[in-house]
Amino acid sequence: MFTELPKSILINEVVTRDGFQSEPDFVPTATKIELINALAGLGLNKIEVTSFVSPRAVPNLSDAADVIRAITRDTPTRYVALVPNEKGCTRALELGVDEINLVMSVSESHNLANMRMTCDQSLQQFEQIAGMTAGTPMRLNGSLATSFGCPFEGPQTQERVLRFVDAYLERGLHSLTLADTTGMAVPSQVQSLCQAVRERWPELELTLHFHNTRGLGLANVLAALAAGVHQFDASLGGLGGCPFAPGATGNICTEDLVHMLNEMGLDTGVDLDGLLLQSQRLAGIVNHDLPGQVRKAGQRSQTRPLPQSVKQLMQNGHS
Ligand code: COA
Ligand code: ZN
Repeated sequence: MFTELPKSILINEVVTRDGFQSEPDFVPTATKIELINALAGLGLNKIEVTSFVSPRAVPNLSDAADVIRAITRDTPTRYVALVPNEKGCTRALELGVDEINLVMSVSESHNLANMRMTCDQSLQQFEQIAGMTAGTPMRLNGSLATSFGCPFEGPQTQERVLRFVDAYLERGLHSLTLADTTGMAVPSQVQSLCQAVRERWPELELTLHFHNTRGLGLANVLAALAAGVHQFDASLGGLGGCPFAPGATGNICTEDLVHMLNEMGLDTGVDLDGLLLQSQRLAGIVNHDLPGQVRKAGQRSQTRPLPQSVKQLMQNGHS
């Protein structure tokens, strides 16, 4: 399966956007800022800080401008904001974020539920945005939600996904994310779609965004790695979920992902101890349990003290 594994993997943290957007309680602005500043020191490639969307659609991120203005932004991490339309792009340009993540769904029904636009209307918005941002340093990433299945329509054909990748690239977007919004992807499908995209656009910067809704998150990462993908979104503690997709649950967990990759001998450049500390803090911030497992189990290298009774057996020659 792993004939040519990429040596280093880039990790993008999305907890303050994907994670906080559907929490039952509003996370205070100062807490968001503190968390982002702490995460930025840990070697992550990007942090998706917030989204510039309708405050009525996502009230938890209505403080987006305050958060962007206050974070320190003194690390090499790229600071990203999710944007669905021209209005969001105007706000992002005013505030000077490094990158905007333009999102639409592959399926019409989920795009209507999430963005209140048809796929064509979203693409028209992105065309305008490409014009608005041309000549500025702001980068454009395009995300295709429901790439591996839609909660309303079920599976989406590979051909349809590839058509939208093409539509994004025609509009001049710089990089692409295939997103599994409600955890419907299975590893064989992931490998096949990643291979198809990489064969057709070998130079394209490709990210995979998985949710662990059906327990397949890290298996899907392995499938994408086998297809040569080396950039992944993940969320601290495994917090996350789309408020406009029934049954959506958390992203793959950043610290579990980094732990797995480290133990496979792959380099992420991310400080795992630092992540575990922030994940512990996050459980206190949201005031409920988080799905991440390494925080609870400890790292694989962390052995436990031998019970006294076993020590005694060993001393008595039972070893
Ligand atoms: N940022 C802030 N406010 C915005 C906005 C943006 N990017 N886009 C629209 N608005 C405001 C409008 O000004 C208007 O406000 P008003 O009623 O006070 O005048 C209101 O939102 C409705 O605007 P409209 O253009 O009619 O949008 P809509 O109601 O058709 O909704 C979206 C379209 C895209 C704005 C909305 O569906 C949305 O924000 N979706 C994001 C969902 C999301 O984040 N999902 C999870 C991430 S994938
Ligand atoms: Zn997501």
